[in-house]
Amino acid sequence: MGFVGRFLFLLLLVAAPALGQLPSQDILALLAFKKGITHDPTGFVTDSWNDESIDFNGCPASWNGVVCNGASVAGVVLDGHRISGVADLSVFANLTMLVKLSMANNNLSGSLPSNVASLKSLKFLDISNNRFSGPIPDDIGSLRSLQNMSLAGNNFSGPLPDSIDGLASLQSLDVSGNALSGPLPAALKGLRSMVALNLSYNAFTKGIPAGLGLLVNLQSVDLSWNQLDGGVDWKFLIESTVTHVDFSGNLLTSTTPKELKFLADISETVVYLNLSNNKLTGSLIDGVELSTFGRLKVLDLSSNELSGDLPGFNYVYDLEVLRLANNGFTGFVPSGLLKGDSLVLNQLDLSANNLTGISSNSAFMFLVLSLFHFMHGMQCSF
Ligand SMILES: *[C@@H]1O[C@H](CO)[C@@H](O)[C@H](O)[C@H]1NC(C)=O
Ligand SMILES: *[C@@H]1O[C@H](CO)[C@@H](O)[C@H](O)[C@H]1NC(C)=O
Ligand SMILES: *[C@@H]1O[C@H](CO)[C@@H](O)[C@H](O)[C@H]1NC(C)=O
Ligand SMILES: *[C@@H]1O[C@H](CO)[C@@H](O)[C@H](O)[C@H]1NC(C)=O
Ligand SMILES: *[C@@H]1O[C@H](CO)[C@@H](O)[C@H](O)[C@H]1NC(C)=O
Ligand SMILES: *[C@@H]1O[C@H](CO)[C@@H](O)[C@H](O)[C@H]1NC(C)=O
Ligand SMILES: *[C@@H]1O[C@H](CO)[C@@H](O)[C@H](O)[C@H]1NC(C)=O
Repeated sequence: MGFVGRFLFLLLLVAAPALGQLPSQDILALLAFKKGITHDPTGFVTDSWNDESIDFNGCPASWNGVVCNGASVAGVVLDGHRISGVADLSVFANLTMLVKLSMANNNLSGSLPSNVASLKSLKFLDISNNRFSGPIPDDIGSLRSLQNMSLAGNNFSGPLPDSIDGLASLQSLDVSGNALSGPLPAALKGLRSMVALNLSYNAFTKGIPAGLGLLVNLQSVDLSWNQLDGGVDWKFLIESTVTHVDFSGNLLTSTTPKELKFLADISETVVYLNLSNNKLTGSLIDGVELSTFGRLKVLDLSSNELSGDLPGFNYVYDLEVLRLANNGFTGFVPSGLLKGDSLVLNQLDLSANNLTGISSNSAFMFLVLSLFHFMHGMQCSF
């Protein structure tokens, strides 16, 4: 061995253990996170994340739930291990290559850290069904790489910040089942990559923000069980290419008595429309008989204040589920609902209305309809 060789050999002897022993910044961050865990019934993190099992070049690939990309941690996936404790999410700001952070369905508390903007590479964030709380920080809007975010089933409070329109890559946003309040931000219409939006089960107020139709990739929007008032955004329902719309469980009203005539013009892409449990008034027929419902497969208008006769349903071929219960509809059960071959209806609920032939002779009517519907494999209640 020449001088240079001997020098290199010595250097290796000195350097190799040092590389193995000096924990990387990523490892220090993960160990800091582990400190907050108070109970880990399967030992998923507590038995696995320790210095002895470090076998790496900077990334502890053998630790449960840790995904490496070369020497850096690219993913931390801890879903559904019944882990309890306080999750200090601020430590993940030190994982500069972190793409996926997922710890859904545990028992973790904590908040979204003020340094959340440092998670520049993050594409997937799922901390749903835990006990996280506090506000959604304004800085969340700087996560330009973020594609999917679920904060559902926690106790986040305060408004959905206006800065969210900075989430230019966001395809799904689920903040359902929190304690968020205030008006929905107008900035929602800026989320141009959005495919699935779920803001249900919060305490959002005021109207449905205009411009949701600008979200050209939107397939599903769930705003149910909030305190949204004002009219249904029919312009959106007519112009958009959305397929699933749930506005149920709000305080939505009809701005004109003839408003539901828009159902005839509903976008052909909408297959599910749920407006139940609102304060909609008016009639479904509006002089001319309204008998088209676009391509709707599911229409739920139950528990509103609708009235008047039911339309004919003569040209309705796609409807599989029709629920109009608990309104003030009058008149006869339309014969269109009894036409055989062309109808694919398999669930019909007209109960708690004032329909003729049902309240007066409900046993007989029920028998006839049940027999008919039984023959067509249909579930019904009147
Ligand atoms: C994160 O990095 C900063 C500086 O880069 C350091 O001061 C801090 O201790 C690190 N935190 C953790 C939890 O590793
Ligand atoms: C969840 O965490 C809280 C506080 O740490 C604890 O009191 C509770 O027992 C935990 N629940 C379960 C199901 O582990
Ligand atoms: C949710 O947070 C509020 C304070 O914002 C608190 O009063 C309430 O007890 C929390 N609820 C749960 C279920 O933790
Ligand atoms: C992100 O959201 C989109 C739109 O809902 C979905 O198609 C995709 O599967 C999601 N990706 C992940 C990793 O959850
Ligand atoms: C929205 O979230 C709620 C509660 O988490 C869930 O029950 C519902 O199915 C979700 N809506 C859609 C359209 O996925
Ligand atoms: C419509 O929404 C209500 C309330 O959210 C729900 O109970 C009902 O099952 C939904 N209807 C259909 C047909 O999905
Ligand atoms: C049904 O009709 C009865 C008698 O005409 C009336 O008292 C009642 O308010 C009506 N119910 C509804 C839901 O419209």
